[in-house]
Amino acid sequence: MASSVFRHAPPKACAMIESLRGLGYTTATALADIIDNSIAACADRLDITFIWLGTGSIISILDNGNGMTERELDKGMRLGEINPLETRKNNDLGRFGLGLKTASFSQCRRLTVASRKSGEMNCLRWDLDVIATSKDDGWYLLEGAHEESEKLLFPLNGYDTGSLVLWEVLDRIITPGFAEQDFLDLIDRVEQHLAMVFHRLLEGNNSSRLKIYINNKPVNPWNPFLIGHPAKSWSSPEVVFPSVDGVVMECHVLPHKDKLTESEFQSAAGPEGWTAQQGFYVLDITI
Ligand SMILES: Nc1ncnc2c1ncn2[C@@H]1O[C@H](COP(=O)(O)OP(=O)(O)OP(=O)(O)O)[C@@H](O)[C@H]1O
Ligand SMILES: [Mg+2]
Repeated sequence: MASSVFRHAPPKACAMIESLRGLGYTTATALADIIDNSIAACADRLDITFIWLGTGSIISILDNGNGMTERELDKGMRLGEINPLETRKNNDLGRFGLGLKTASFSQCRRLTVASRKSGEMNCLRWDLDVIATSKDDGWYLLEGAHEESEKLLFPLNGYDTGSLVLWEVLDRIITPGFAEQDFLDLIDRVEQHLAMVFHRLLEGNNSSRLKIYINNKPVNPWNPFLIGHPAKSWSSPEVVFPSVDGVVMECHVLPHKDKLTESEFQSAAGPEGWTAQQGFYVLDITI
């Protein structure tokens, strides 16, 4: 930049983050992004906790993955720190270096991440209210949990390595008129979504099976293909496309309603209902 005339043009933290809040997540898809990170960190158990406290309600996601050192956590919490062009490990589900922050900010104003690795525990926090009231519009990444929230990190002590993501000040969820029953309905929707998105991992064999608990209740996989149902008469052999390397397609035709009991019919409908759940399912990507 030595010979060019330039203006230094960093984004304003408050405006930038407020814009990023509108990326179009639902609570369920935002949680799925957080879980992707846990899976990439080799976690095989996740505990999602929803605590209803009116406007003070919280959601936390605890995993037993590899955890992060102080440096890794610092890097993971920053926006625009990881270049999408960087080569990733094969099992890394991340791409943009943003999901933890954008998914969380879409739901809450206070994001705290605590992590244990190599015998140390570290914790950093973004608080959009602190950023909004700062005079110089800086990117203030805060040390540690909010003083009243430290106790919420306690479950992480049960693991030698792992991470805990805490969402507080859920302003995008607890909107005016949102009541406890709405929170319970939200938990049901989240459970259904996770049961679908992670069904293959939840179905996995014993040693590698992913276990997700919501408020201590296991999430059971929802398989869109009604695998093993006696009335399912047809599914195609695998079809490969000679011109597209590495893509394998399999077709499934689900049984007619008459061949299913009422509860099987309801369950096979999936989170969005029979019609909406038809389509393409991408089961695995190997690049
Ligand atoms: N639960 C976790 N356990 C260990 N490391 C994590 C965890 N969550 C996040 N990280 C680290 O923080 C980094 C940033 O996460 P973030 O979700 O923001 O971006 P990403 O996963 O790299 O890409 P994407 O934007 O596509 O999700 C991750 O690359 C990972 O190194
Ligand atoms: Mg991610």
